Amino acid sequence: MKDNKQKLELTWIGKHSAEYNIANIEPRILQENPELSNCQNDENTENKIIHGDNLLALKSLLPEFEGKVKCIYIDPPYNTGNAFEHYDDAVEHSIWLSLMKPRLELLRLLLSEDGSIWISIDDDESHYLKVLCDEVFGRDNFVSNVIWQKKFSPQNDAKWLSDNHDHILVYAKNKQIWRPNLLPRSDEMNLRYKNPDNDPRGLWVSSDMTVKTYSPAYDYPIQTLLGNLIKPTKGRCWFTSNEKMQALITDNRVWFGESGKNTPRIKKFLSEVKDGITSMTIWTYQEVGHNQDAKKEIKILFGDDVFETPKPEKLIQRIIHLASNENDLILDSFLGSGTTAAVAHKMNRRYIGIEMGEHAYSHCKVRLDKVIAGEQGGISKALNWQGGGAYKFYELAPSFITKDEFGNSVIDAFYNDAKLIQAMCKLMNFKYQPSQEQYWKHGVSSGKNYLFVTTQILTCALVAQIASHLGENETLIICSKNFESGADKIDARISVKKIPQSVLKSCNFGKKEYLLPIKESKALEELSENEFEESGDE
Ligand SMILES: C[S@@+](CC[C@H](N)C(=O)[O-])C[C@H]1O[C@@H](n2cnc3c(N)ncnc32)[C@H](O)[C@@H]1O
Repeated sequence: MKDNKQKLELTWIGKHSAEYNIANIEPRILQENPELSNCQNDENTENKIIHGDNLLALKSLLPEFEGKVKCIYIDPPYNTGNAFEHYDDAVEHSIWLSLMKPRLELLRLLLSEDGSIWISIDDDESHYLKVLCDEVFGRDNFVSNVIWQKKFSPQNDAKWLSDNHDHILVYAKNKQIWRPNLLPRSDEMNLRYKNPDNDPRGLWVSSDMTVKTYSPAYDYPIQTLLGNLIKPTKGRCWFTSNEKMQALITDNRVWFGESGKNTPRIKKFLSEVKDGITSMTIWTYQEVGHNQDAKKEIKILFGDDVFETPKPEKLIQRIIHLASNENDLILDSFLGSGTTAAVAHKMNRRYIGIEMGEHAYSHCKVRLDKVIAGEQGGISKALNWQGGGAYKFYELAPSFITKDEFGNSVIDAFYNDAKLIQAMCKLMNFKYQPSQEQYWKHGVSSGKNYLFVTTQILTCALVAQIASHLGENETLIICSKNFESGADKIDARISVKKIPQSVLKSCNFGKKEYLLPIKESKALEELSENEFEESGDE
């Protein structure tokens, strides 16, 4: 019988283009640039800043970091305005969605089972992005649409309404498992607790004891301390049975006001409330900062070398606090001026930041160097940040395959023997993990599958020798530039593949980058610095 079930999904021109299929994205090796790293404090730091296109970089991270990232925050270009003058609007939106989809798919694979992803977006694309995310992460894993108040006063020259919020879409990898941390209780909240009756259990606040879900059994009169009877207001009832209410009254947990004859209220003790509060979904600028705060933070760090679209450190701190604990791994693949990395660093998280622009050098690196030196902007004072820590700076290696002068596909000259081994591990989706004991174990994948890469001619004798050391449940793939006839038939647990022929069709080589449409905002350019200050606008 024909399956007539239709999937609810967003479609657009080019949605299923092979070019953007994650299987076809080339996983590159990451090349550390020791001159740009800052790891005197910790040679073994796992913190990474990667300069390059994030689609390529995310694919490159997959063999090592699949299922390892606790919290992802991204702040992609919002796709407002015209990025491509010669395209019509529908095509531009389609390109944006086509380029976001594979990035989201890779980010999902990188998330740990108890991880979550937080995506900043504005009105223009947020609802399309929500439907796309439902498809990628599963609608059941949608947690919330947080509203962040990014501006503090109206922009009076706005033609229609003055937009003063961004959306932050939140998805869990698995909503059944993921739980956010609580937010710390503020002093202001604690000040509401008093102790007018000198209760030995300490400070308390009183709250209503009636509920609107009516039950006749919970609708009874309560006798006050002065003897008068009080019933719940019409249509409501008490929140518990008469018997349990009497126990609460005996335990001095019900408050009848100073006079002793008011409508009873339940006492809630500070010592008994949760050690924090559940985050709400509207985040005001007083709590987490606004765009101007972010710009001021950038100005203090970089003087006039401004960055147009930073986020305030407090906003990112809130996200990292809710979604992770110390030492967890945080990822931001649209790092911009480096806010997420700087905040994660100060909060003692491990992090990976990816940024394609020149500001990877001019902003991300410079900012983290200042953080390590004890910079006191942003959230530093609140955390008593004293400096320290380390990171390593990486570039994406060139494509593995290039064309020679005759148009043949050959391995790029960049790949010497050591790099070739690493690249083959990535291309075969093995984690590069050379064994100290067995020289022929260069990479490992799930279970006991190993990879050996050699540029020598592989002889039958060598395969037989390796086979004699291979464990019972172990399997091995040997990638070599050439092998003796019969070397691929020595042992059923060992398969032999040729380099580069075996990987030539595994992905698209030679792509420099997969650019998202990034617009230049006219409105932004036209506003002067003073107008910014006055309007609280971007
Ligand atoms: C809105 S900004 C992020 C700002 C950041 N949240 C901050 O606080 O500074 C977006 C960043 O994504 C970067 N970006 C855009 N496309 C990218 C790509 N394909 N790969 C890596 N970075 C990219 C841009 O260069 C820009 O710096």
